[in-house]
Amino acid sequence: MKRVFSGVQPTGNLHIGNYLGALKQFVDLQNDNECIYCVVDMHSITVPQDPKELKKHTLDIAALYMAVGLDPKKSIIFAQSMVPGHAELNWVLTCNSYTGELSRMTQYKQKSKGEESAPTGLFMYPVLMAADILLYDTDIVPVGNDQKQHIELARDLATRVNNKYGKTFVVPEGKFMKAGARVMAMDDPTSKMSKSAPNEMSRISLLDEPSKIKKAIMRATTDSEGIVRFDIENKPGVSNLLSIYSAFSGKTIEQLEKDYEGQGYGALKKDLVEVTVDALAPIKANFNEIRESQELIDIMKDGAERANAIATPVMNRVKERFGLGL
Ligand code: AMP
Ligand code: TRP
Repeated sequence: MKRVFSGVQPTGNLHIGNYLGALKQFVDLQNDNECIYCVVDMHSITVPQDPKELKKHTLDIAALYMAVGLDPKKSIIFAQSMVPGHAELNWVLTCNSYTGELSRMTQYKQKSKGEESAPTGLFMYPVLMAADILLYDTDIVPVGNDQKQHIELARDLATRVNNKYGKTFVVPEGKFMKAGARVMAMDDPTSKMSKSAPNEMSRISLLDEPSKIKKAIMRATTDSEGIVRFDIENKPGVSNLLSIYSAFSGKTIEQLEKDYEGQGYGALKKDLVEVTVDALAPIKANFNEIRESQELIDIMKDGAERANAIATPVMNRVKERFGLGL
């Protein structure tokens, strides 16, 4: 059995990019692997958060994990701040990372917008992420394509420590979906769908009403060619719709191109609304039930205990290798 770890930040409602790029893989992996899924609340305080909202969002994400099909009997579900090893290992890895490599992280460059002084937490974000992964001797990390560079850093840090201090960490592998690894914004198919874009119609959230889903898809940016064909470079909008359709329905892109031969974008969009609404309906129903239940907190406490039991021997091994403590 392989060990799987991944995390999602408790900021805002999750969208279909998060689902198709990450969460759907989480569910697929849980039957044949030992899976640990974390709500990374310490990552979200790299930018200011309202404390009450943060707690609420942490529970929201844990409930969404279960609503999409994660089973707390099979998968460990908890919040990052409930296991102290994340912060401890973060420091050890910090002392083995370089400002040069961290300055090269594209996400940091985008978020700090080239300002000379940026929040240190944003800069350190990828090291904490590496700590999350390495703390559990993780083999596989299912994530969206935007996390590739961060996974590379985790691998580099693991290898660096192993070479210097003797075998300490498992070197993890990223796992990316074929369809859905990069869902683009509905209003601008050249940028990825994000939780924070100002235009609500740019994304489809997992808990959106059918009327909102319909609006966002029917208004989605396409092109003037009128032929349903996958071509990311020249037809990013239509290609994005086809990718989403394929990921939700399980039909291949080739099949979809055939199905819509001779039909315009209207037909494609209309059917995609139906496919999307049908796929999200059970998630929404499950979410409301789980989020209301008292069990949710117990599940996370139990998850944190199980996670801690895996993390403690790894952290002890790290301390031993580095000569920390007695
Ligand atoms: P975040 O919301 O940034 O914590 O992302 C949670 C997970 O969703 C990560 O694995 C991301 O790589 C993935 N993700 C975020 N946005 C997208 C997107 N537009 N397409 C595919 N995957 C995404
Ligand atoms: N950085 C990830 C994102 O924004 C979230 C994350 C934090 C994560 N720690 C992780 C993902 C460890 C995978 C493994 O999506």
